[in-house]
Amino acid sequence: MQEEKKLRSQDWFGKTGKDGFIYRAWMKNQGFPHHEFMGKPVIGICNTWSELTPCNAHFRELAECIKRGVWEAGGFPVEFPVMSLGETLMKPTAMLYRNLASMDVEESIRGNPIDGVVLMCGCDKTTPSLVMGAASVDLPSIVISGGPMLAGHFKGRKIGTSDVWRFAEAYKVGEMSQEEFIAAEGCMARSAGHCAVMGTASTMASMVESLGLTLPDNASIPAADSRRKTMAHMTGRRIVEMVREDLTMSKVLTRKAFENAIMVNAAIGGSTNFVIHLMAIAGRIGVELDLQDFDRLSENIPFIANIQPSGEHFFEDLYYAGGLPAVMKELSNSLNLDALTVTGQMLGENIVLSNAHNREIIASVDNPFKPNTGLAVLKGNLAVNGAVLKPSAASPHLMTHTGRAVVFEDIDDYKARIDDPDLDIDETCVMVLKYVGPKGYPGMPEVGNMVLPKKLLEKGIHDMVRISDGRMSGTGFGTVVLHVSPEAAIGGTLALVQNGDLITLDVPNRSLHLHVSDEELAERKKHWQPLELGYERGYTNLYLNHVQQSHQGADMDFLVGKSGTWKLRESH
Ligand code: FES
Ligand code: MG
Repeated sequence: MQEEKKLRSQDWFGKTGKDGFIYRAWMKNQGFPHHEFMGKPVIGICNTWSELTPCNAHFRELAECIKRGVWEAGGFPVEFPVMSLGETLMKPTAMLYRNLASMDVEESIRGNPIDGVVLMCGCDKTTPSLVMGAASVDLPSIVISGGPMLAGHFKGRKIGTSDVWRFAEAYKVGEMSQEEFIAAEGCMARSAGHCAVMGTASTMASMVESLGLTLPDNASIPAADSRRKTMAHMTGRRIVEMVREDLTMSKVLTRKAFENAIMVNAAIGGSTNFVIHLMAIAGRIGVELDLQDFDRLSENIPFIANIQPSGEHFFEDLYYAGGLPAVMKELSNSLNLDALTVTGQMLGENIVLSNAHNREIIASVDNPFKPNTGLAVLKGNLAVNGAVLKPSAASPHLMTHTGRAVVFEDIDDYKARIDDPDLDIDETCVMVLKYVGPKGYPGMPEVGNMVLPKKLLEKGIHDMVRISDGRMSGTGFGTVVLHVSPEAAIGGTLALVQNGDLITLDVPNRSLHLHVSDEELAERKKHWQPLELGYERGYTNLYLNHVQQSHQGADMDFLVGKSGTWKLRESH
């Protein structure tokens, strides 16, 4: 019987003599009786609670629910904090710190007497950072997400994060005042939870569920719904069993699981950030994944979850309509139903009783909201290692487009000139933004969906082709080419684009071409000066020296792979 296997935590708490004394005695200051240390599975609850990560601000209460489940199943729960990354406040971008947080998670798990882990994830980067860190240790691990906010209500209509971009345009052309902005702010985030649309947080919650790392239905239960607490309780119960079964992360995170996540992401119109984070997770656990896989696997997957920004509704509505299990049920003919999940059962077994209850929200694959959406991976001389575009959020009339480049040398240049009435630009132009990649900004911020020039918004133009080496918020939309690799900061072709160059975006043929000869590009390259990146010390210096390009997941080179739970020496 598996239970006979010696628990890792007993290398601490099971010790006799001085070492055991030190490991147990200080824990007892919390009132834990001696028998707690006698061979119960110790469950680490990895908490990203922070008042500076508003999307995760309800996590202390949620952690208590997890503990109830752990106690109930005979485990010993120990909650610990890790670096929390909030999208809204952290400058220059929470993405700069994703890898740092993953290091915190990895070492906190490995260095402590933990047999299994519950990862408490919510706001965008708190999911990949925790999964990446835990994957590099590979203990039994389960994810609980914090759940989405309830949709906001403003002036009689529902709002969510995607409206920030609509409001920004309305404000720019004077259709919305600062006073209305402040009123809308109070309506936007009216409950606990993360962004209410299919932004990156909802995408990440769906990713971990489709990877098999959560209990069924984890993704979409609203944060404010009591069933979120029940989910936490049941997650606590389950992780204790997972330790007894030795159901480690690598048994769940197989190639099949990654394929499932890619297909589900296409069906729900998930964020483009999904690509970067899934690549990084695959790198940690050691599953081969290529940028092309995202395009190939999602090619015939239609858009069947009618959630903003690609659709009309909110993430909570997905839950009421049957949740992610119902979406996966619709995809049964495509998914790897034999992928093992944290329930101990195959994905197909988990979803067998699920059904879509509302065809306004969850469509069948035969009658989808949009056909063949997925994610387009573009290549060409402008993106030798690839770039991505989300067709479901783009304009059909721009999917094949040739236009004159209007170049912004960096984000400051864009901000300074975009609303200049004399800027030589019209709706047929292609906006190009440089130096917003992993090294360039640094951290690869979500600025790729540049707001259009005021004079074009006033003309009623709401979309143009935009190209950058940056990212876009998962709540964003438009014909936006992102993640151009190699990035401008390391001398990618993007750095060499000049005003007036012609660029062709051809999504059907997956191509992104700059109409400038190789000879001319070579000549321009000779005159190109690398950016002075700065940051002579600290984490950002480490990051700049080691971060990989976006098509590789933007992880740091020395973090790829896993070290497991190698034997550690005693601390005294
Ligand atoms: Fe946290 Fe959107 S700001 S999920
Ligand atoms: Mg974001």
